[in-house]
Amino acid sequence: LTISLLLSRSGQSNPTFYLQKGFQQYVLRKKPPGPLLPKAHKIDREFKVQKALFSIGFPVPKPLLYCSNASVIGTEFYVMEHVQGRIFRDFTIPGVSPAERSAIYVAMIETLAQLHSLNIHSLQLEGYGIGSGYCKRQSRVIAVLDWELSTIGHPLSDLAHLCMFYFWPRAVPLISQGSFFQEDIGIPSMEELISVYCRCRGITPILPNWNFFLALSFFKMAAIVQGVYSRYLLGNNVSENSFQFANVVQPLAETGLQLSKSRYSKERPELAEEATQPCSFIHKHERAVKENMQHRREVSQEMAKAEGLWNLFLPAVSGLNQVDYALIAEETGKCFFAPDVFNCQAPDTGNMELLHLYGNEKQKQQWLEPLLQGSIASCFCMTEPDVASSDATNIECSIQRDGDSYVINGKKWWSSGAGNPKCKIAVVLGRTRNTSASRHKQHSMILVPISTPGVEVVRPLSVFGYMDHLHGGHFEIHFNQVRVPATNLILGEGRGFEIAQGRLGPGRIHHCMRVVGLAERALQIMCKRAAQRVAFKKKLYSHEVVAHWIAESRIAIEEIRLLTLRAAHKIDTLGSAGAKKEIAMIKVAAPRAACKIIDQAIQVCGGAGLSQDYPLAYMYALTRSLRLADGPDEVHLSAIAKLELKDQARSLMAKM
Ligand SMILES: Cc1cc2nc3c(=O)[nH]c(=O)nc-3n(C[C@H](O)[C@H](O)[C@H](O)COP(=O)(O)OP(=O)(O)OC[C@H]3O[C@@H](n4cnc5c(N)ncnc54)[C@H](O)[C@@H]3O)c2cc1C
Ligand SMILES: *[C@@H]1O[C@H](CO)[C@@H](O)[C@H](O)[C@H]1NC(C)=O
Ligand SMILES: *[C@@H]1O[C@H](CO)[C@@H](O)[C@H](O)[C@H]1NC(C)=O
Ligand SMILES: *[C@@H]1O[C@H](CO)[C@@H](O)[C@H](O)[C@H]1NC(C)=O
Repeated sequence: LTISLLLSRSGQSNPTFYLQKGFQQYVLRKKPPGPLLPKAHKIDREFKVQKALFSIGFPVPKPLLYCSNASVIGTEFYVMEHVQGRIFRDFTIPGVSPAERSAIYVAMIETLAQLHSLNIHSLQLEGYGIGSGYCKRQSRVIAVLDWELSTIGHPLSDLAHLCMFYFWPRAVPLISQGSFFQEDIGIPSMEELISVYCRCRGITPILPNWNFFLALSFFKMAAIVQGVYSRYLLGNNVSENSFQFANVVQPLAETGLQLSKSRYSKERPELAEEATQPCSFIHKHERAVKENMQHRREVSQEMAKAEGLWNLFLPAVSGLNQVDYALIAEETGKCFFAPDVFNCQAPDTGNMELLHLYGNEKQKQQWLEPLLQGSIASCFCMTEPDVASSDATNIECSIQRDGDSYVINGKKWWSSGAGNPKCKIAVVLGRTRNTSASRHKQHSMILVPISTPGVEVVRPLSVFGYMDHLHGGHFEIHFNQVRVPATNLILGEGRGFEIAQGRLGPGRIHHCMRVVGLAERALQIMCKRAAQRVAFKKKLYSHEVVAHWIAESRIAIEEIRLLTLRAAHKIDTLGSAGAKKEIAMIKVAAPRAACKIIDQAIQVCGGAGLSQDYPLAYMYALTRSLRLADGPDEVHLSAIAKLELKDQARSLMAKM
C-alpha cells in the first residue's frame, strides 16, 4: 500500500491522501489533527452527501467506506475511489485552447445547474440517471470534489461563489489577472455563465439581489480565510503558506463591502429621486447661466456643490449606479454647460475614474482630490497626429525610464480640455518599449503636470470651425524631453491598455446618455418650428414628410434611450467587461440617430437652423464629432460583429 499526501499545495481543509494498492487507486480524506471548531471538518457529512449523489449518478467519486473509529489512524476518515482527471486551480486555465476553455466553463455551470435541479427528498431514490446528452460533452465534469462546506443553502449563493473571480481583488494573488481581463482567451463573461445556468434550470435570467449574493460570497471567503490564519496562529496549520492568508482577509472583505453598496437590478428604470434634483436645478438656472456665461457658471458650480449635486458620475462618491446616472446625464445633455456645473464633464470624469481605480494613495491625494473638488481640470493625451490612433497599439510617444524619472517625447493632438486655464494635469499614454512583452503590454500611462518644462501646448483644433468647442478646446501638445518623477507612472510599466480598458468603462457611455437629451432638445425645436411656420398654405407639420420626420425622431429617441439604459444596467450588474457589446452598440447608435434628428430639425428650421439663432449647428458639430471622439464607428462595429459571432458560436455549441 502506497500513501501520499494529495492536494498539499492548497489544501487548507481536510487533509487528503492518495492510496495505491496494486492497480487499485483510492483517495482518503480525514479530519485535521488537533482541536477544531465544533461544526467544521465534519467528514461524515461529506461522505453522506457524496453517497446520496453518487447513488443517483451525479458526478462525484464513488464513496467506499467511512470509519468513525478515531483510534484507527488518529481521526475519523473515509475512502473513495480515485478519479482520473484534471484539476484547474488557475481560473484562466493555462495551456488549453480558447474553445476548450469555453467548453470547460460551460460544463462547470451545467454541472452546477444539474445539482440544483435535484430533488432533496428523492435523493435516496434509485433510478435517477444523468440527463440525456449530458455525457457527450467533450469537457464533461466527471466528479465534483470537496463537499466540506456543503449544506442545504441558497442556489444563488453557489452561483455567486463561482462568479467571485470576475471581481477578484488585485491584492489577492490567485489568478494570473493580466491575461484574464485583457485578452479574449475564451472564458465566457459572467452574463454568459448566468444565462447558461438559467437555461439549464429553466428559470428567467433576472437574478434578484444578485449583488447581495456576490457580497455574501466575499464576506464568507474573508471569514474562511481568517479561520485558516487563526489555525496557523494556534500552530495548527495544514500547509506551509498559511501565514500569507493574513494579508488576504481585508481585500476580500472590502470587495464584499463594495459589491454590497451598489444598488443593482431595477426592474424598470424610472427617474430616480436623485435624478429629479439636478434636472430642476438645471431648469432653474439655465436662463441665468446663458445670460452671463463664465461668471454664472462658477456661481452655479458653487450652488450645485452646496446642494450636494456634485461628482454624480462616480458611483463610489455619489452612491448612484449607472442607470440612475443615465437619467441625470440625459437631462444635462439638454444644456451645453450643465455637465460642468455638476463636475461631470469629460475628460475629467474619465480621468477621475482612472485615478480612482488605478492611482496610488499619493497620486489620488495630489490629483484626484483637487479634481473631485473642481479646483483643477485635466486632459487625456492618447491620440497622435502621425499614426492611426484608433488602433492604440500604434501609439509612438515614448516614456523612457532614466534613473528616478521618466522622460517623455512625442506629439499628441485632440487633447480635449487642455485649453482650460484650470487644466493642470495630463494623463499621457505612451510606449515603454519592452521587446519581450506582447503588443498590448508595450504601453504605459503617466501623469504629467502641464507646467513641466518641455510641455508645449501648440495650437487649438477647430471642430466644424468652432474653436472653443467645449471645456476650453482640443489641443495639439508636444512633449520634448519632458522629465517627471518615476512615481508619476500609473499602475506600472506596460499596463497602459489595462488602464485604458478601465477608463473607457462606464465613462464611455456618458456621452451617449447626454446625446439622448440633446436629441430630445432637437426634436422639441423641430416640433415648435413645424407648428409655427406656414408654407404652401399649411403648417409645416401638415406636410406629411415633416410629420414623418417628427414620428421617426420620436421612435429613434426611444430606441437609443432604451439601449443606453440597457448598457447602463449591464454595467451595473455585470461590470463594463460584461457590457462590452452594449457599450459598443450604443456608441454607434446614439450619435448616429441624434445626427439624423438634428439634421432634420435644421431642415425644418430652414436657413435659421444653420445660424447662430438656433443651437442646432453647434449641436450637430458636437454630436457628429462623437462618431470619432470615443473611437470611430467602424472600430465599434467590428468589435460588435466579433462579439456577436462569438455569442452565436457559443449558443450553437451549447445546443450540441
Ligand atoms: C471632438 C473630439 C475630441 C477628442 N478628444 C480626445 C481626447 O481628449 N484625447 C485623445 O487622446 N483623443 C481625443 N480625440 C481623438 C479621437 O479619439 C481619435 O480621433 C480617434 O480615436 C480616431 O483616431 P485617428 O483620428 O487617429 O483616426 P485613424 O485611426 O487615422 O482612423 C481614421 C479612420 O479610419 C477608419 N478605420 C480605422 N480603423 C478601422 C477599422 N478597424 N475598420 C474600418 N475602418 C477603420 C475609420 O473610418 C476612422 O475614422 C478626440 C477627437 C474628437 C473629434
Ligand atoms: C476502534 O479501533 C481499535 C483499533 O483498531 C479497536 O481496538 C477498537 O475495538 C475499535 N473500537 C470500536 C468501537 O470498534
Ligand atoms: C505551519 O506553518 C509553519 C510556519 O510557516 C511551517 O513551518 C510548518 O511546516 C507548517 N505546518 C504544516 C503542517 O505545513
Ligand atoms: C518586459 O516584459 C516581460 C514580459 O511581460 C516582463 O516580465 C518584464 O518585467 C518587462 N520588463 C520591464 C522592464 O517592465
